[in-house]
Amino acid sequence: MLSTKQNDLVTQTGPGTPGGKLLRSYWQPIATEDEMPIGGAPIPVDIMSEELVLFRDDQNQLGLIGRHCPHRGTDLSYGRVEDGGLRCLYHGWLFGKDGKCLDQPAEPEDKKFCHKVRNVAYPVQAKGGVIWTYMGEGKAPLIPDFQFLVAPEERRMAFRVIQNCNWLQGLESSTDPAHTSYLHRMSEAAVSDARGGQSARFFSEDIHPRLDIERTSYGARIHSLRKMSTGENYLRVNNYIYPCGTTPVTSPPPRAQGYQGRWYVPRDDRSHTRFEFFYQHAGPVNKDGLRKSRAANVGPDLRHVRRAENRYLQDREEQKRDDTFCGMGRYIPAHDTFAIETQGEIQDRTQEHLGSTDIVIIEVRKALLNAMKQMEETGEAPGLLHDPKDNQFPDFICTADFILDGEDGPAYCRRILGESTKAAAE
Ligand code: FES
Ligand SMILES: [Fe+2]
Repeated sequence: MLSTKQNDLVTQTGPGTPGGKLLRSYWQPIATEDEMPIGGAPIPVDIMSEELVLFRDDQNQLGLIGRHCPHRGTDLSYGRVEDGGLRCLYHGWLFGKDGKCLDQPAEPEDKKFCHKVRNVAYPVQAKGGVIWTYMGEGKAPLIPDFQFLVAPEERRMAFRVIQNCNWLQGLESSTDPAHTSYLHRMSEAAVSDARGGQSARFFSEDIHPRLDIERTSYGARIHSLRKMSTGENYLRVNNYIYPCGTTPVTSPPPRAQGYQGRWYVPRDDRSHTRFEFFYQHAGPVNKDGLRKSRAANVGPDLRHVRRAENRYLQDREEQKRDDTFCGMGRYIPAHDTFAIETQGEIQDRTQEHLGSTDIVIIEVRKALLNAMKQMEETGEAPGLLHDPKDNQFPDFICTADFILDGEDGPAYCRRILGESTKAAAE
């Protein structure tokens, strides 16, 4: 349970708020590269209660500037891409990707005051199939070189989806290792064709997982250990990445072949964008399969087809047959959307009752509150990278595996890290 003040701190990210300052200290994803093809149209971007427009100028350079024209506020995402910038449809003012006003065509030559007008502008950079922005003060840090962002292109793929609730509810669902035994439980028939179903077969067994969380340089490692009916010890190691990232494992054991990176980026305090980075260690990701699954489950408005307006298309017969526990189909992300959106637009955490299986939730909130405190005291957020030689994560493990009898998650990670250190030295 949090106090009202704490709940405000961890959920509010508008300009000037402690949470907003924290999240602005890191690069944040704003769109997929697929959404911004060469010659493509500008798109509106809502991020942390700021309304922006992402566009390519006529040199194909990316720019991210304030959405409302500094003249009288018309939406620039409808504007014309020409003459080195984005031109407002209302009176023709032109803005460059750096926010400079380049032209005020309606003003007589001797009355122009372009040099006095400046639109908001933020730097942008493409990485991992996604376009990122830095909205913080001072010199930008580096975007972290996690494998799911820098591996060869055939081994990764990025999507995004909009969810109608506060960003922290999304992050908490992705770090919570306990809910999978219920929310995503499916019949044998269902797991065989669900996306991530092979993994669901494992993580829905054993409703009393042993949970551990260990702090790392980039955030925290989250271990959930389950005893299978076969007697095997199934360990899932996910991660929390400062400030709004996670890496849930989506492949089955042993030595899972892949996982997802996820970023939960606030649009405002009542909705967020979930970025999904699919990643495979060795072979290619099945891009056609992922595209098909997405087309069937996510609408053109970037929201799940199953949504509050249609009660998530819950099918009580499907539930009675125990095909799925929730009666909401075999597309696992839709289950999570239901769970987090129905907590309310901003969950009132003064009214919750946390149990022992919520230790990860508690630790991640603590990490966020401590990060805000650290920023206030030192001006520097945790886990920021400035030197390219530091941009690596030797303590990062994200896997699903069968582990030795008597071993726990932290001991397994020590063993694996020892093994990889030894392999690197040989
Ligand atoms: S409102 Fe944009 S040019 Fe007038
Ligand atoms: Fe989930």
